[in-house]
Amino acid sequence: MGAAALRLYAPTPAAVRAHVHVRWWSAPFEPVAAALPATGRVLEIGCGHGLFAAYAALGAPGRRVVGVDIDADKIAHAHVAARGAGSRLSFAVAGSGAVPPGPWDAVVVVDMLYLLPAGEQRRLLTEAAAVLAPGGTIVVKEMGTEPGWKVRWNTLQETLSVKVLGITQGSSFDFVAPREMAGWLEDLGMTTTLQRLDRGRLHPHHLLVARRAG
Ligand SMILES: C[S@@+](CC[C@H](N)C(=O)[O-])C[C@H]1O[C@@H](n2cnc3c(N)ncnc32)[C@H](O)[C@@H]1O
Repeated sequence: MGAAALRLYAPTPAAVRAHVHVRWWSAPFEPVAAALPATGRVLEIGCGHGLFAAYAALGAPGRRVVGVDIDADKIAHAHVAARGAGSRLSFAVAGSGAVPPGPWDAVVVVDMLYLLPAGEQRRLLTEAAAVLAPGGTIVVKEMGTEPGWKVRWNTLQETLSVKVLGITQGSSFDFVAPREMAGWLEDLGMTTTLQRLDRGRLHPHHLLVARRAG
């Protein structure tokens, strides 16, 4: 299904195709998508070019996936990709940290929260919990805070991407420990699970899944 999602980008410029291929190989999208419900309305906040949203939509015919991002150029390319995926996949430009009204069966955030200060991350997740349908799920893929050498490698790469090359919009980053983030959602009455996804990978990928009571 990864190959099918990447094929959607065939009509986009070479730089975009290269970017989404690097994303596919550097991020563990499979276990993140597997944490989503197989049916229902899914919102991705900070979807970038939309590769994860496309992968999630193609992976389960019962999912309808909407991706939003502040970067209008990325969303323009995501629109081109979505043309090949039918009406179950759509994209829109949104304000910084905005959470579009629900109800959503799942809200997913993949490598985007770290671009906001910790207080804003908590505010976004609190708003996401509020727009979930009963029994809905929040899925967060961020970088963990251990082991130290993977954290240092990731910080170096993000410094290049965000502060030097400007590939990703943002001005600073704030990596919150997954356990702390899970605590924010538990304070809202959600049940959480945490899982390291960094085995065999250079980056400290981490998955947080939080469920609202049905
Ligand atoms: C590292 S990229 C991840 C993109 C996508 N989720 C993926 O996994 O390929 C981070 C994305 O977050 C977006 N972003 C940064 N700050 C944001 C904000 N304040 N509100 C919404 N999106 C934001 C960027 O434009 C970028 O597309």
